[in-house]
Amino acid sequence: MSVSSETPPGPLTETNQWIDSHYRGDMEDPSITTIPGAARSSELFDQVVNLCKRRGFVFPSAEIYGGIRSTYDYGPLGTLMLRNVKDAWWRAMVQERDDVVALDAAILTNPKVWEASGHLATFTDPLVDCRNCKERWRQDQIGDTCPNCGSKDLTDARPFNLMFKTFVGPIEDDSNVAYLRPETAQGMFVNFANVMGSMRLKPPFGIAQQGRSFRNEITPGNFVFRTREFEQMELEFFVPPKDAPKWHEYWCNERLNWYRRFGISESLLRLRVHEKEELSHYSAGTSDVEFAFPWGWGELEGIANRTDFDLKAHAAHSGEKLEYFDQATGERYVPYVIEPAAGATRTMMAFLISAYDEDEVGGEKRTVLRLHPHLAPYQVAVLPLSKKETLTPLTKEVLGILKTSFMCEYDDTQSIGRRYRRQDEIGTPLCVTVDFDSLEDGAVTVRDRDTTEQQRIAISDLVGEIAGYLAQPFSDPRTSRN
Ligand code: GAP
Repeated sequence: MSVSSETPPGPLTETNQWIDSHYRGDMEDPSITTIPGAARSSELFDQVVNLCKRRGFVFPSAEIYGGIRSTYDYGPLGTLMLRNVKDAWWRAMVQERDDVVALDAAILTNPKVWEASGHLATFTDPLVDCRNCKERWRQDQIGDTCPNCGSKDLTDARPFNLMFKTFVGPIEDDSNVAYLRPETAQGMFVNFANVMGSMRLKPPFGIAQQGRSFRNEITPGNFVFRTREFEQMELEFFVPPKDAPKWHEYWCNERLNWYRRFGISESLLRLRVHEKEELSHYSAGTSDVEFAFPWGWGELEGIANRTDFDLKAHAAHSGEKLEYFDQATGERYVPYVIEPAAGATRTMMAFLISAYDEDEVGGEKRTVLRLHPHLAPYQVAVLPLSKKETLTPLTKEVLGILKTSFMCEYDDTQSIGRRYRRQDEIGTPLCVTVDFDSLEDGAVTVRDRDTTEQQRIAISDLVGEIAGYLAQPFSDPRTSRN
């Protein structure tokens, strides 16, 4: 599919063709089962994708050169939001716990890692060519018919390894081959002994990591749902083998609750247990947290009981002992691993879809992103009521006070009503407006995105009041409306 570089259209009616050519990818993934009676339409998908481009969340990568298939750049607001999604995960998985430590392993590593992990031999998808239209597909997604031209004249399936290959140094021969990591997980297994020793840890304990991963997907698509470069947030939680089932259940509940806590409603989430034949080669049991995307249920995160597969495999290939030994008791074992593995970019998309809403304020239609305040790109917009110069110094002073504690946007363009709508559309939970009374009474108006209610608050109390608001549990007004 070629990607054209025309200017994105404004009104929604013009967007569909543009969205098709830029974002949808080659196909909607038929491996994703559709939700019976799904209320969430493809129109919603188009609206979110359009908003992402129009308001600077996500752009097609290198668009001025026509883009590159299913690759995206995160714009000013998308960068902030993605960072917030990762921070929310980090706080829950590392900061708020006393049994998880951090790691940031290299993307390029010794290729023996991928030999031991099984990725070189088995990280493949079955690739077929359509002899009629020359398109390539994942055979497990299409069956025996080409989705592009309807032909049944397909080649036999052959395994296609999803790892991107490169060379380390200037000589491009077999001895210098390296791979871009297809998951962050292996960095945690190969550093198991370093981390446990240096931090004096005893199972149960976890190692958490976030970062880019790369997979040469045959059919990327559905916007940032499946891309070739994406971000992961993974925890490897090492436990005594006998405790693995208990910890697996624990992490399934924890992770499901995390999505709820950050605003995804119950009806859009489910936990799906993998059938035996679906399990990866390392897994004794996997459950996926799934989200009701507009096209059907799709995985946000897999929570696997990886047993002792990885530590044993790396011990065998490296010759190093990767086990826990308690000198005091003489206890020795290879820990089992429970792995909650989430995609940050995919999760950000789910939060956007879930937050998208339209309602009416004062008889006027508005688009509002009902994002959890911690996930919204900006927590506060600071607005002078008018562009009159008398208001500028105090508004800038208020901005100066707030921006050391919160991510703020300053906006003095257009009417105040238009500026509120702009902030609603990008999910800013609070607007702080400086008006002519502020010059006299040292107070400002604070407007709530969801209720549109306004309160007068003294400038001297603002930081404390906003911090108090942000510390409250989030409740989506749509849940109480239903
Ligand atoms: N270490 C285990 C592992 O990587 P996975 O299910 O292959 O498991 C974990 O990946 C998560 O990473 C997925 O649930 C998904 O959210 C995200 N992910 C995987 N492939 C992706 C892709 N091509 N594009 C975007 N996100 C992806």
